[in-house]
Amino acid sequence: MNNIILCGFMGCGKSSVGRKLSKKSGREFVDMDRYIEEKTGMTVAEIFAEKGESGFREIETEACRELTDRENLIIAAGGGTLTIQENVEILRKGGRIVFLDVSYETLCERLARDTRRPLLQVENRNEKIKELLEKRLPLYKNAASVFINGNFSSTRVAENILGIL
Ligand code: S3P
Repeated sequence: MNNIILCGFMGCGKSSVGRKLSKKSGREFVDMDRYIEEKTGMTVAEIFAEKGESGFREIETEACRELTDRENLIIAAGGGTLTIQENVEILRKGGRIVFLDVSYETLCERLARDTRRPLLQVENRNEKIKELLEKRLPLYKNAASVFINGNFSSTRVAENILGIL
């Protein structure tokens, strides 16, 4: 039950903060996307291409269940995990949800050269980020019980999380 679940938009630092938190706390870190890739033997991009976003979301819900059956983990959710209400309920039951809040400008900078995330391989990437962020911000805020300013180094953000939890 005492898992820590990091959530927030793509590029908000869930994975790098998660690794730092893991080192500092001695808890195991699991990145949900990497977990899905290992489980399916496919990359996230391959899953999107073959099964569509809805196929990916089904696998993601299974991953939420499997990971929250375990304890003492630091889990980095995907940027879209909390857009599915079922996932919100599973993750809430399975740990404390921490939202890493990062500004639109910083997200655009961090994601400018991304080639890995299927949802961002579009002509006007910053418009897409804006559109998704507007839809998702209320969902992250509603699901999380801890809010952290993520506009700092991953070390500092990890220290701030440990200070609050
Ligand atoms: C997604 C975010 C990605 C990954 C997939 C979909 C999203 O995770 O799950 O590309 O819908 O925002 P990261 O937030 O770790 O990039």
